[in-house]
Amino acid sequence: MSSEASPVVLITGASSGIGRAAALLFAERGWRVAATMRKPSDGAALSEHEGIVVLPLDVTDQQSVDAAVAATLTQFGRIDVLVNNAGYGLFGPFETATDEQIRRQFATNVDGVFAVTRAVLPTMRGQGSGVIVNVASLGGLITLPFYSLYNATKFALVGFTESLSFELAPLGIRAKTIAPGGVATEVAGRSLARTFAEGENPSGDSLSKVMAAMSARRGAYSTPEAIAEIIFTAATDGTGQVLYVAGQDAEQAMGLRQSLSEEQRLAMIRQLSGL
Ligand SMILES: NC(=O)c1ccc[n+]([C@@H]2O[C@H](COP(=O)([O-])OP(=O)(O)OC[C@H]3O[C@@H](n4cnc5c(N)ncnc54)[C@H](OP(=O)(O)O)[C@@H]3O)[C@@H](O)[C@H]2O)c1
Repeated sequence: MSSEASPVVLITGASSGIGRAAALLFAERGWRVAATMRKPSDGAALSEHEGIVVLPLDVTDQQSVDAAVAATLTQFGRIDVLVNNAGYGLFGPFETATDEQIRRQFATNVDGVFAVTRAVLPTMRGQGSGVIVNVASLGGLITLPFYSLYNATKFALVGFTESLSFELAPLGIRAKTIAPGGVATEVAGRSLARTFAEGENPSGDSLSKVMAAMSARRGAYSTPEAIAEIIFTAATDGTGQVLYVAGQDAEQAMGLRQSLSEEQRLAMIRQLSGL
């Protein structure tokens, strides 16, 4: 049994990838973990770990957000850290994106973070402490072709989190952003949504080149466990650092970005994307 005094983390999107790795890491370090996910049956293996409770939470459904936060408080009595991790990428030409695809991308990656954050803030304010860790992306700092809508959501998250960090600091609450580069998860697999049908290529050559460049980079992706370590650091380092660039590829790209002119920066993106 976990100690009553051990801290509590609530993680969204804990069924796979970074969220799952974070749930396991916090539990291993003695935390009590509310590992939330759309389908709790996906968390059967997680719930066998000491200190982990699997709860249903769809970030696009306010009732399920409120119920998961209430269930976490009933189970553990407090929430020290919130990890807003749930999200996915919408890839492809902007022109062919449907209203529904655009709405869903923002509802999950942006509105979902707003909903869970607002549901948890009264508890953190009452405690006089807490850390909110938002999993954005390198794609919230640097764009890639054919990711315009995903980039838009992650740029939104980076700006939201930085502004929120000023507002919450006097309440004893920290807001932080994780910006991973490529990570070997379901993000490029079952979680990837496309604005074009399989086999169709409305943007011709440039879309094919970008897809080939993306595939070629996969070997250099970080593991979800490595990103979970950075989430844990952000949650526990006690510093006012807001942005954590995560992964060698992301650090390298950000290092280059800072030393490049605008023209060179756009050329770097074209080169990375095979254009
Ligand atoms: N992998 C990368 O290269 C990379 C890079 C930068 C940032 N990120 C970000 O990292 C986060 C985690 O992604 P991942 O790479 O670990 O991919 P993943 O393995 O596909 O995990 C994504 C998680 O988000 C969940 N999710 C999607 N929509 C949801 C909703 N409406 N409500 C609750 N959960 C929902 C998925 O749940 P289901 O199992 O129910 O689908 C899954 O648990 C995302 O925000 C992603 O944008 C990933």
